[in-house]
Formats: sequence, C-alpha cells, structure tokens
Amino acid sequence: MQERVRDLRRDFDAALAAARDASSLAALRTRWLGRKDGLLTALLRDLRDVAPAERAVAGRVVNELKQHVEGSLEAAAGALLRPGAAPSLPALEASLPGRRRQPGAPHPLAQVRARIEETFLEMGFALGEGPEIETDHYNFTALNIPPHHPARDAQDTFYVEGGLLLRTHTSPVQIRTMERQKPPIKMVAIGKVFRRDPFDATHAPMFHQVEGLVVDEGIAFSHLKGTLERFCRKVLREDVRLRLRPSYFPFVEPGAEYDVSCVFCDQGGCGRCKGSGWIELGGTGMVHPAVFEGVGIDPERYTGFAFGLGIERIAMLTLGIDDIRLFFENDHRFLGQFPG
Ligand code: FA5
Repeated sequence: MQERVRDLRRDFDAALAAARDASSLAALRTRWLGRKDGLLTALLRDLRDVAPAERAVAGRVVNELKQHVEGSLEAAAGALLRPGAAPSLPALEASLPGRRRQPGAPHPLAQVRARIEETFLEMGFALGEGPEIETDHYNFTALNIPPHHPARDAQDTFYVEGGLLLRTHTSPVQIRTMERQKPPIKMVAIGKVFRRDPFDATHAPMFHQVEGLVVDEGIAFSHLKGTLERFCRKVLREDVRLRLRPSYFPFVEPGAEYDVSCVFCDQGGCGRCKGSGWIELGGTGMVHPAVFEGVGIDPERYTGFAFGLGIERIAMLTLGIDDIRLFFENDHRFLGQFPG
C-alpha cells in the first residue's frame, strides 16, 4: 500500500506541474478527489482490504497523500488568482461594470423628527424623556384622567402585565418633568406612542408625538399661541396661519385643538383639507391647576401651557403624502424618494 501511495504521489505531482489553467486544475481535482471515481476515494475504499495489523500505517500514509493533494490543488488555484500568475485567468476583469451601492438615508419620519427637534432647540426648549411602557398613573390619573373617566375611551391602548400599558400620548412626560424639575420649565419630548386605533390612511396603532411644556410665573395663553405659530411657520411655511378651536383635554383648561391653513390649496379647498382650508395638527391648552397640585407646583404662583402634535401628520403635510401606512411598509420605492 505504501508503495502504491508513493507512485500515486509522483503521478499527482507530475500532473499538477503540467496543469496551466483553471480548467485543467478543475479536471485534476475531479480525477483525484471526485466522490465517486476519484483516485483517492478509491484508495480510501481499498483500505478496508488491508490487513488489520497494517491498517493504521496505511491509513496514515493515505491521509497524508489526501492532505497533500488537497493542499496542492488549493495552493495552485490561489496562485492562478494572483496578478500575472497565469495569462488565461486574469486577476481583475476591468471591463465588468462595478456593483452599484445604494446610498442610505434616514427614514423620512426620522428626517422630519430631526427638523422638529432642531426647531424647538433653536427656540430655547430642552429635551425631555419618558418611557414608552408607562404606568396607568402617569398616562392617565396624574393627567387628571381618573379611572372610569370617559376621556380614557378616546385613548384605548395595549395593556401589559403588572398594571403597565403602552403610553397613548407623550403627555406623561409633562408629569415626569414637573416631578423632577421646578419652574421655570421649557421642554419638548419626542417619542413613540400606541393606540388601539385602526390602521387606515390617517391613523396608525403606533405613531410619534411631540409634547411641549412651558411653566413659569406669568405664562399666558398668548405665549402658547405665539410659540405654536412660530413653530408652524418654521417647519411648514413662513406664511402659514394658525387657528385654535376650543376642545377638551382633562389636563388643560382652557383646552384647544390647533389647525394650520392648508399648505396644499392655500385655503381654496382641496381633498387634503376636506374642503375646509384647515388641517388639524394637535391639541393644546393651559396646564390644569389639578395637574400642578398633583406634582407639588403652586397653581397660584405658576401658570403654563402644554401642546402635543403627531409627527406623522406633520410629515404627511411637509412631504405631501396622503397615506400614513407608507411610512411603515419599508418599501424602497417609497423610501428612496427621500434621500435626506
Ligand atoms: C393628545 O394626544 C394630547 N396628549 C395632546 C395634548 C398635549 C393636548 C398637551 C393638550 C396638551 P390627541 O389624541 O388629539 O391629543 O392626539 C394628538 C395628535 O396625535 C393628533 O392631532 C394627531 O396629529 C396625532 N394622532 C392621534 N392619533 C393618531 C393615530 N392613530 N395615528 C397617527 N397620528 C395620530
């Protein structure tokens, strides 16, 4: 057996020396290592017939040959790939077109969020924060929405074990901020919120809100209006008009919803504003004295205003998108239109 192995090795080395290109190397590989009829495969099979006493030594030499064949074939293939090694296999095919790389960009919602954040920072707001999984207390009760209050119906959510829930709005950050910090306060918080809402053209079960809170001595409704107007003009358009409509949120008094003049039709009436000339952006109002009392801020001394708005709705306005679901489908044909 040892002699046979020695002869085979000599044959292999001679054949390898004669192989000049990739196809002759491939043929050599099949001839020697082919699963069915490869010379080495046959040799390994024949080991069964070797006398048991000699089998260990025979096995070792056959294995050594196998390693030699495999290693040599690999080295020869590697050498062919090196520049100038073999004229029949160029190392680099310079005429092939390159692989195109698609440049990445932040998600359109992330772009709009960054713009909103920047605008508020420029206006002197600090960034606040709160968890997405909240307690019932912060999401409802501390915001003057006790259990069984009908206002809870408008913001049904997903409940988590242990009395926790996915926050329905960013307003709990108002409470967390006022517990942590005494006035003056001027903060915005941006983040995800969740509601048991249908997934249709204007609603999503998960969306993003911006919360704003300003508390100090002498804060009046006119500050609220001026702040929102300035923000809308910076983010939407310089000539946009703001409208406040009385509305009810238990944590503010008085409360309002605010609209901007339709940026699509300049109030001529279109499908986007449903012919009204106005587009709703969010809710606002003066902080309710009961909320101040709950966090230990004296409502006789301090006043404040708060506001909330939906980022998707602003993004739809600024980017001209008529279906909120497009933001969440991760379709490159859509995302590719917002290179940042
Ligand atoms: C609130 O969530 C109040 N927390 C806002 C507020 C803050 C009022 C501070 C007073 C003071 P509302 O439920 O209206 O309010 O939601 C605010 C905005 O979130 C809406 O105007 C809308 O832009 C957006 N929004 C609400 N539900 C959805 C939804 N399912 N999908 C996408 N955006 C939504």
